[in-house]
Amino acid sequence: MKIIFDAPIPNTFGFSVKAACFAEYASVEELIELLRDDSLPRPFFHIGGGSNLLFTRDFPGTILHSGICFTEIAGDGVVRVGAGVVWDELCENLATEGLWGTENLSLIPGEAGAAAVQNIGAYGIEAGDLITEVECLDTETLELAVIPAEQCQYGYRASRFKGEWKGRYIVTAVRLQLSPDYSPRLTYGHVGDAVEARFGTLEDLTPMMLRETVIDIRHGKLPEPSEVGSAGSFFRNPFVSDECYAAVEAVAARDNLGPVPHFASPEGIKIPAAWLIEKCGWKGFCDGNVGVWKHQPLVLVNLTGKASPSEIISLEERIVSSVRDRFGIILSPEVEHV
Ligand code: EPU
Repeated sequence: MKIIFDAPIPNTFGFSVKAACFAEYASVEELIELLRDDSLPRPFFHIGGGSNLLFTRDFPGTILHSGICFTEIAGDGVVRVGAGVVWDELCENLATEGLWGTENLSLIPGEAGAAAVQNIGAYGIEAGDLITEVECLDTETLELAVIPAEQCQYGYRASRFKGEWKGRYIVTAVRLQLSPDYSPRLTYGHVGDAVEARFGTLEDLTPMMLRETVIDIRHGKLPEPSEVGSAGSFFRNPFVSDECYAAVEAVAARDNLGPVPHFASPEGIKIPAAWLIEKCGWKGFCDGNVGVWKHQPLVLVNLTGKASPSEIISLEERIVSSVRDRFGIILSPEVEHV
């Protein structure tokens, strides 16, 4: 177990933020010990890789981090993974094993436990599609619970762990069902075209070929985390009513913005936030230490490495206002503000 007082908080934005205490545990027993330890500053806040968080100020309590790192792979594609395993290392491991399921989720920053909370998703698949059960510690009773995926209410970037259960459960391990059977997912956007361009075929693919393609696509669109700080997509894609969509189309027709990209779904019509932000002129915008990524305007970046959380929040507010004023849609952040 590692306990550090007055510690920097790991975060992919590259902000210099501190916590009164940072504690990392390597087992469920150590986690229980930490939760019982009255000498640790409260409140507790659990993080994964810090890749979806915006610490708005120094944190007065204890940041918890899982160091539970094991991966068990059974022959039939049943996988059990500790919450602290780096998500992309899991993806690489499973692709190497020839198992289908996580290859399109390659290179998403963060850890397996957070993936089950955030329901991370990319290129036509979400973690919730693969998760069968989530092993958690109930912080009220300090007992372990194994929660079936059907009870986790997985939706677009949503789960019960982020909603009514927030703060109650700490994920300790995740169980997934991968597929040994040939099942490439090629239908999202230009994934199929990118596979064909890279390998000259859409047949006899392997999970590793898909993984390599997805890594290429992401490298082209998203900032390199070691070079430019960000939290990936800063905003959620909005789901709107038919009337709201018609109003956006009217604005697009009036202002010659071209066709409005949109996707029908049970939650409403999804309009890419990236399109709305780009059409408000923000793509590639820079202001001092912060900016809007030049290849993917959903991503707000710490351009100089010296940005403060307030500079990002001020940029967020300006983007939200301009999209609201032009299109009547209020964007909500995907990144959690702490
Ligand atoms: N678009 C633009 N301008 C751009 C980029 C995109 O107008 O510069 C529009 C286009 O219409 C494009 C559409 O947005 O077809 C969708 O773009 P993309 O495929 O890049 O996906 P996204 O909806 O912008 C989501 C996730 C990403 C994930 C991609 C791929 C959210 C909030 N973001 O982005 O997730 O990688 O799909 O599946 O849902 C993340 O969460 O950190 C993340 C990167």
